[in-house]
Amino acid sequence: MQVATLQNPLREGLDVERVPPPSAMVIFGASGDLTMRKLMPALYNLAVEGLLPPGFGMVGYARRPYTTEEFRQHMREAVDEFSRRRPVDREVWQSFEQGLYYVSGTFENPDGYHRLEAQLEQLDKERGTAGNRVYYLATPPDAYETIVDNLGHGGLVNTHPESFYRLIVEKPFGFDLKSAIALNDHLQTVFREDQIFRIDHYLGKETVQNIMAFRFANGIFEPIWNRNYIDNVQITVAESIGIEGRGGYYDETGALRDMAQNHLLQLLSVIAMEPPIAFEANEVRDEKVKALKAIRPIDPAEVDQYTVRGQYGPGWVSGHPVPGYREEPKVSPESMTETYVALKLIIDNWRWAGVPFYLRTGKRLPRRVSEIAIEFKQVPHPLFPPSVIEQMEPNVLAIRIQPDEGVSLKIAAKVPGPRLRLRSVNMGFLYGTAFFVESPDAYERLLLDAMKGDSTLFIRRDETEAAWRPITRILEGWSEAPPPSFPNYEAGTWGPTAADTFIERDGRRWRRP
Ligand code: BG6
Repeated sequence: MQVATLQNPLREGLDVERVPPPSAMVIFGASGDLTMRKLMPALYNLAVEGLLPPGFGMVGYARRPYTTEEFRQHMREAVDEFSRRRPVDREVWQSFEQGLYYVSGTFENPDGYHRLEAQLEQLDKERGTAGNRVYYLATPPDAYETIVDNLGHGGLVNTHPESFYRLIVEKPFGFDLKSAIALNDHLQTVFREDQIFRIDHYLGKETVQNIMAFRFANGIFEPIWNRNYIDNVQITVAESIGIEGRGGYYDETGALRDMAQNHLLQLLSVIAMEPPIAFEANEVRDEKVKALKAIRPIDPAEVDQYTVRGQYGPGWVSGHPVPGYREEPKVSPESMTETYVALKLIIDNWRWAGVPFYLRTGKRLPRRVSEIAIEFKQVPHPLFPPSVIEQMEPNVLAIRIQPDEGVSLKIAAKVPGPRLRLRSVNMGFLYGTAFFVESPDAYERLLLDAMKGDSTLFIRRDETEAAWRPITRILEGWSEAPPPSFPNYEAGTWGPTAADTFIERDGRRWRRP
């Protein structure tokens, strides 16, 4: 067998620990947005770092009638536009593109899968991909079941006992609990659970992984990480962008399904989980599932006490006028889809009893910023009179996920001078200045892990179902509650005023990150 090695001038030696075994990756939906914006730039950057296995090949599969040459050209354009490293290194690209192939076919017709199989066998011979397969579903979710069935019937899965077969599935993973269970059942008719890698790209972000390092590699935080010291937790994922031409998808989905069910609840679970007994896939996920299961289900009749929905109208973002959500292409002019959601979730276990978790996310907010703020309780006995307090907030540990990744701790300090005056100041750690390296994109880490078979940062079946449970109750509550009056926030503002009153009722305020 002839093994083609990916020549990489930047590579000084194979980092065997981090380089996955040989494999062929098949991307279904290879002409789509996700492939162009995320997957191809991620694979290219892995090639630059010498992290792709020597025996690697990637086959794009989609309807469009490209030749392999045309596909390589399109992928080059995608990398030119979206890679975090630009300009593209010519030598690395020339070597990398030799491993890119294209098969044109529909998701339904078995003929395409026969051509795919032939292509994969050729890759095994020419590039040494050893029969190992990683299938990536980067398609709309209504194609998932058809593709998986065809892979099963076409003999493309579990045919050689010595090879591995994996399936990477993108979100949305179902649209409620029932459909998520049905989809899981279906995928498992062809793939075993340990072969299924459900992606939530937030878990691939460096800062999200750092939460685990922060909590479990430092002794000083764990003793105070509970109801005795923490007053509340606020998780904010704010976006200044609108729906970016995704009206068709978004209008059917909304912020609760698009962001809260997955990204926000994943962030909650890494903050709320108990320390796992080992940093291994199942141990970590066991603890995350327990935290998700402890979320108190919201009674649909009380949904208005625990949630706020918003939809943006026209406004200004970063100095430019922007249309309202209902004016976006492929959005119904009467749409009742939420582009903002705020939630108050209660975690019913010993660690978190009585500590509300406030979550919010929205499109067309003033800034792109994601942060988790752990707000600590006030001192038990106030020693200093209000007259010396200039400007003071409770102690807050803020974990900044993006941009300006880092961690800061707000503490009270004395203002220099002869008089006693107190003010809040920040102690901070910034990734940029501490490590002087640019963080890899989340997809780089996740693609690498899937090729290595490490599922720690992927969502297990019970996890996705545990996350759908409380979300489905909210959806039920919303469908019964009186419809909100949309639009109820102007683009470029921090969401509906109802979201402020919602948290102020509890005597608290949203942070302005
Ligand atoms: C996706 C959502 O999962 O995450 C998008 O579908 C959203 O609507 C995106 O914009 C946000 O991801 P990031 O990495 O830009 O914060």
